[in-house]
Amino acid sequence: MNKARVIRLMIFLCAFVLFSCSEKQYDTIDEKLESLLEEMTLEEKVGQMAQITLDVIGKGGSRYNSYEPFLIDTVMLRKAILEYHVGSILNTTNNYALTPVKWNEIISFIQQIAMEESRMKIPVVYGIDAIHGVTYTDGATIFPQQITLAATFNPVHAYNMARITAYETRASGIPWNFSPVLDLGADPRFSRQFEGFGEDPYLIEIMGEQMILGYEGITDSISSPYKVATCVKHFLGYSVPASGKDRTPAYIPENMLREYHLEPFKKVIDAGTESVMINSGIINGISSHASYELITKILKEELGFKGVVVTDWMDIINLHTRDKIAVDNKEAVKLAVNAGIDMSMIPYEFEQFCQDLVALVKEGEVKESRIDDAVRRILSMKMKLGLWENPVTKIEDYPEFASETSVKEAYEAAAEAITLLKNEYKILPLSKSVKVLVTGPNANSMRALNGGWTYSWQGEKADRYAQQYNTILEAIQHKIGGINVQYVPGVSYVETGNYYEDKDDRFSEAVQQAKKADVVILCLGENSYTEKPGDLNDLTLSHNQLNLAKEVAKSGKPVILVLNEGRPRCIREIEPSMAAVVQTYLPGNYGGDALADILFGDVNPSGKLPYTYPSYPNSLVTYYHKPAEEQKRAEGAYVYESDYNPQYEFGYGLSYTDFEYSNLRVSSKTISGNKPVEIFVDIANTGSLSGKEVVMLYTSDLYASITPDVKRLRRFTKIELEPGEKKTVRFELNARDLAFVTPDGKWITEPGEFEIKTGSLKQVIKYK
Ligand code: BGC
Repeated sequence: MNKARVIRLMIFLCAFVLFSCSEKQYDTIDEKLESLLEEMTLEEKVGQMAQITLDVIGKGGSRYNSYEPFLIDTVMLRKAILEYHVGSILNTTNNYALTPVKWNEIISFIQQIAMEESRMKIPVVYGIDAIHGVTYTDGATIFPQQITLAATFNPVHAYNMARITAYETRASGIPWNFSPVLDLGADPRFSRQFEGFGEDPYLIEIMGEQMILGYEGITDSISSPYKVATCVKHFLGYSVPASGKDRTPAYIPENMLREYHLEPFKKVIDAGTESVMINSGIINGISSHASYELITKILKEELGFKGVVVTDWMDIINLHTRDKIAVDNKEAVKLAVNAGIDMSMIPYEFEQFCQDLVALVKEGEVKESRIDDAVRRILSMKMKLGLWENPVTKIEDYPEFASETSVKEAYEAAAEAITLLKNEYKILPLSKSVKVLVTGPNANSMRALNGGWTYSWQGEKADRYAQQYNTILEAIQHKIGGINVQYVPGVSYVETGNYYEDKDDRFSEAVQQAKKADVVILCLGENSYTEKPGDLNDLTLSHNQLNLAKEVAKSGKPVILVLNEGRPRCIREIEPSMAAVVQTYLPGNYGGDALADILFGDVNPSGKLPYTYPSYPNSLVTYYHKPAEEQKRAEGAYVYESDYNPQYEFGYGLSYTDFEYSNLRVSSKTISGNKPVEIFVDIANTGSLSGKEVVMLYTSDLYASITPDVKRLRRFTKIELEPGEKKTVRFELNARDLAFVTPDGKWITEPGEFEIKTGSLKQVIKYK
């Protein structure tokens, strides 16, 4: 065959293959996937592994921000998609929220270029952080933050938030959500504690699983236009850096990593999460993004994770610029991809990432089989999402977007989470005819109610976008009538860069007004933040706020302290002079209404603390500490400051009614093999109001070969009881529930005695 004929034949074959790629029907996703993969050039494969941020393709002349309103820079978009084959885009533009229509328009255009003009016609997968409702969609239903949901101890709320958020994320045209956060909230100094489900691994596991089901579906799959692919984060051990500051080194022994941090991830991987985001930090000296052990050995091999592993923001280049373990970008790419990263959230300099990775493969430094593995995972997620058939979903097909039912779910989650921590002389609920002074920097702020990741990354735009919802002050005014409500801020937040401080704001007037009121509602806490801008040097509540509390308390009027904060700020100095303390966490757009309903008795509080509320910034110990943390004060000369001394314990929370626990019984006093033990307890509502109670079951290993935790939460359930009503709750435990991880990383249940506790009741059982 002469050269010209060979060329003609090759052209024909290419055309045939291309045609068959776009037209051919495949029996299975695998068939379609393998056929695509065979067709793709190395450059096309590498492009699939690249993720860029929206501003990179926005007009404005810089990759870091764009003109407003947002306009696509078509030259840049074509360069990214047609020249570099970029497979994924994330984030919003200029850090603000867009309408669903605008989202639809942007994503439709991106898909048009990808699916009509690119050789392989592979759709782009768009990803977003819709972490408590659709963060960056104007008008979406905004829920409480995850920490608040945890306080409900009711997994239905986690499921509902995820289900509604999936629907509204798809209404915005976006199919992939970087949520939920399953990091262990064991350190209250950490700026992202509010993004997780608190300090207990079991609570995180149960709530996390429900979020996966809500997002990805129980009976339907992510190809449904009402479901999204999830991305659990941040794998692994992100939330406990030694300094308490974001993205600084953590030191976690293997047994702790496995026993406390890994379990929730294991559970959601089994529940089918589609993707995992890697911890931006450094554990035991190893940057997680360069850890073959963590990403390939543990996540992919041991846990059998088949989905996409994505980096966190800039975390490949960070191996060079921040962690200094790679001399340049190319070495960083090599380390990360060989460690098992499938997609790089680059998110700016995509050319560099793509060129470096192509070169590394050509030089034999990264195997093409590693690239194929990554691309298989990415294409498989895109296929499962049905992106070829339905590349962009449109708001007009989502009549339930921000519907009344969705709003009701968001309100109910807040109402069931708000936690009553102190109620001296049963001052709460208040009568609706009292005259109140509402004061404090959190009294009149939608931003503070919502926290970070609300309309913008740091949440600073919430007051603009959420004007139609009620702040705490507005909700109280609606509840009891404006005439009975005086408002003087006393202290207000001040903007200083991204982080927020506070200052006096009519301080003495607030103190004067306290004297004239019947009751003071003092709203303290934090302004919104997340990630590094939320780093903290002192966990104690700010000086100005403590001062305001002290001065209004001197009025002699009962002060109701309302806490509105992403993490528990120490209040030991002022707590004794407060008549009541109510923790709202970050309750979202309907949190003000929920709080007012609780303060004035329309809702009976039933939230419980999902973390230990510390008394002192130097005593930060979780409830599942070792007995050595409880060395009591010595008799006589020595006084220990090392006894466990929280302000409020994990799981604590009061009600307006009373519950009595009785008759704890077990089906067997010994447990062995696979046979579970049944545990029963009776709970009665002995008060005069109907109420909800979280029944928690703890176990304590009395003696073990390594010092055991004082107790661990093993089961919980939330029940509702009318006055005088009694219910029996049944739990089941098996040997695995009594296990711990040995220093060499193995789960074992040791024979011996275990105490089972619920309320103040206890029983001892034996494992043999
Ligand atoms: C955060 C992630 C987030 C990502 C994309 C990072 O800075 O750590 O949690 O998903 O940004 O917005």
